[in-house]
Amino acid sequence: MPTIIDGKKTSADIKQEIAREVAEIVGKGGKRPHLAAILVGHDGGSETYVAAKIRACEECGFKSSLIRYEVDVTEETLLGEIARLNADDDVDGFIVQLPLPRHINADNVIKAIDPSKDVDGFHPINVGHLMIGLPGLRPATPAGIMELLRRYNVPVKGGRAVVLGRSNIVGKPMAMMLMQKGDNADATVTVCHSGTKNIKEICREADLIVAALGVPGFLTADMVKDGAAVIDVGTTRVPDQSRKSGFRLCGDVDYENVAPKCGFITPVPGGVGPMTIVSLMQNTLKAAKNRQQA
Ligand code: GUN
Repeated sequence: MPTIIDGKKTSADIKQEIAREVAEIVGKGGKRPHLAAILVGHDGGSETYVAAKIRACEECGFKSSLIRYEVDVTEETLLGEIARLNADDDVDGFIVQLPLPRHINADNVIKAIDPSKDVDGFHPINVGHLMIGLPGLRPATPAGIMELLRRYNVPVKGGRAVVLGRSNIVGKPMAMMLMQKGDNADATVTVCHSGTKNIKEICREADLIVAALGVPGFLTADMVKDGAAVIDVGTTRVPDQSRKSGFRLCGDVDYENVAPKCGFITPVPGGVGPMTIVSLMQNTLKAAKNRQQA
């Protein structure tokens, strides 16, 4: 049977580690890290994620600010708020929750964020630093996955990794991190996407599969080599009237049939999801420390 990678427990451990470090900083008269989040509109998923990020700030001993705009906010107003947060010395890092309404150009918004406060790691400067292996703020979801792989001693070095999905938030940065030089990386990486032929055959070669397509149950048992490690990034909301919320979260992996073949697997929920939030906390602490040293 596989080792179930428990993201919930790991994230709780890391939040405690962060809280201890923050208590030490504040105890020595240092500044409490401060994360701000901009939320546009009332999308259910975004509301849930932002609320979880604010809750995690409390658990880590951070200060947090939630800045809300209605769905018809102009790009100009949003860019004005970003300029204000860039200039605010008390704010160590901030995020603009995505997706944004269609009338707002998300690229313009991301490029307006000061890279040193870009705790999502989405600014082209931070993306470029990741690509060439320079220090910087890394996107939270793939950073959280790397942390899980390290803490569970999942063998990555020299192995074959397949990333399913080529998004800027997960697939592309995940591939970069796995191929990076280093003890916990050094994988040979293939990125598959909606245009890939022979996806089954490619997956069957993999020692590690990261599924981030957003297609519930996409990865089936016939696509997985015996003993492979499978990381499920999918969080599609599927209607389920038996739940109070009216939906359940569905991963990209057919867990029931894939798990018995795996060496390691992450569940949904309780796998990658909680790690994404904790990586954001790690980035905020890092940004705060960098600012104090600057
Ligand atoms: N939407 C989905 N994932 C993310 C994320 O990691 N950061 C932000 N800002 N928005 C998201």
